[in-house]
Amino acid sequence: MKLSVIGAGHVGLVTAACFAEKGHEILVAEHNVERLAGLNRGEIWFYEPGLKELLHKHVAAKRVRFTSKTEEAVDFGQAIFICVHTPPDPQGRPDMTYVEAVARTIAENLKDYRLVVEKSTVPIKTAERIKRTIGRYVKGDVHFDVASNPEFLREGSAVEDTLKPDRVVCGVDSAKAESLMREVYKGFDCPIVVTSVGSSELIKHASNSFLALKITFANWLARLCEASGADVEQVVHGMGLDHRISHHFLGAGIGYGGSCFPKDVDALAHISEELGVAAPIIRVISETNKSQLERFYATIERELWVLNEKTLAIWGLAFKPNTDDLREAPALRLIDMLKKAGAKLRVHDPVAMPNTRKVHPDLYYANDPIDACNGADALIVCTEWAPYKQADLAKVKATLKVPMIFDGRNCIDRKRAGELGMTLFGIGKAPIKPGE
Ligand code: NAD
Ligand code: UGA
Repeated sequence: MKLSVIGAGHVGLVTAACFAEKGHEILVAEHNVERLAGLNRGEIWFYEPGLKELLHKHVAAKRVRFTSKTEEAVDFGQAIFICVHTPPDPQGRPDMTYVEAVARTIAENLKDYRLVVEKSTVPIKTAERIKRTIGRYVKGDVHFDVASNPEFLREGSAVEDTLKPDRVVCGVDSAKAESLMREVYKGFDCPIVVTSVGSSELIKHASNSFLALKITFANWLARLCEASGADVEQVVHGMGLDHRISHHFLGAGIGYGGSCFPKDVDALAHISEELGVAAPIIRVISETNKSQLERFYATIERELWVLNEKTLAIWGLAFKPNTDDLREAPALRLIDMLKKAGAKLRVHDPVAMPNTRKVHPDLYYANDPIDACNGADALIVCTEWAPYKQADLAKVKATLKVPMIFDGRNCIDRKRAGELGMTLFGIGKAPIKPGE
């Protein structure tokens, strides 16, 4: 099939490459000229494992092309996938400016029937608004449908998640829309869940909020463990063996970040309240998540006493491993707090340092994890990248001024740290202190 993708971002590019892998022909519209120029040189503006190779393969085979003209994409595909960003506004509502702009461009350039597909994450009832907008601006009597097809990929494993999804959800309100969506996903070996458009929109926000709720539950349990002497990893292991609960997304830490959980939890609370349904269970997720990082900072401050002029090493800047995305990254919030307190920071991340430098040009960017520790009064771990889990703790101890680690992701080898006589603070676990 000929398919159009609007927005060459984390979702749009992965969608384009994966649809091409399944045999479709794709035109991607991107209005950011720098990003587009990079794509035309074979460069992707963000880091996502496996994406570059897959995209190169299909660009070379002419199954994926790029354009700056969104109107060209309206003409090209039988289905047009809207993959633009929906960032939060200052009140925490999703800013629908970009989705609305695409709807108007589609309307102004619509000549024949098209299926317009929301892949961007949007609140329930957005399809109705897109439909109304296209209806208002379209010239002449052209038919179209609006479908919802939420995306469930995770950054860092986006290509694999998209090629082998747990499920594909298609919200449709006509037989023609359903048949086109089934054709798009013919090559995918997973359940295709067909629902009403509104249910599909809600499945996305509900799924993200439920995952955020699981993490938040684990973070709250971690607090209880710290107060009672229990160990959160032992507790969630015992819970997760019950298949109804599962181990997934019960990892306690310094809170979830990223471009989606924080904004989607807030967006669900807003839309729910707008529809007259109080959402205390959703509101508490985001409040607890914010205070999780504040508690971690309080532990650091309590242990190090005066932070002014102390040198601290930070491992991990991205909001999770295998990405250079800094959107809502806990490390960035922590850096702000530590800088305000006067600490000097030596930071390391395998891929997110160039992006961090743009926001914090004044930090020391280390050549490797050990270099970050050189002469530091303590090490703080914010992201559980594989090299940090496997780090040689003897070298870490030898380089730090004080052998103390604050592990915000429970990823440092506790046994080894204990053997080496290091001090280690985790999340929801008793601290390891030499001689205790
Ligand atoms: P992004 O910021 O990475 O990419 C969006 C792209 O769209 C940008 O490059 C922007 O320049 C482009 N764009 C905006 N308006 C345009 C227009 N009119 N014409 C052409 N290009 C235009 O955003 P993202 O992370 O890919 O997220 C997109 C949507 O998907 C959001 O709603 C998000 O919540 C959702 N989502 C994201 C992820 C994720 O892991 N990032 C996963 C699932 C769902
Ligand atoms: C998340 C969802 O997992 C995807 O299904 C969804 O498509 C996407 O949001 C989206 O809508 O954008 P993503 O944000 O890329 O994906 O990454 P996750 O692996 O979900 O991690 C999100 C945050 O939660 C990270 O900061 C991570 O460190 C944190 N997390 C995750 C925990 O603190 N504990 C866990 O057990 C799992």
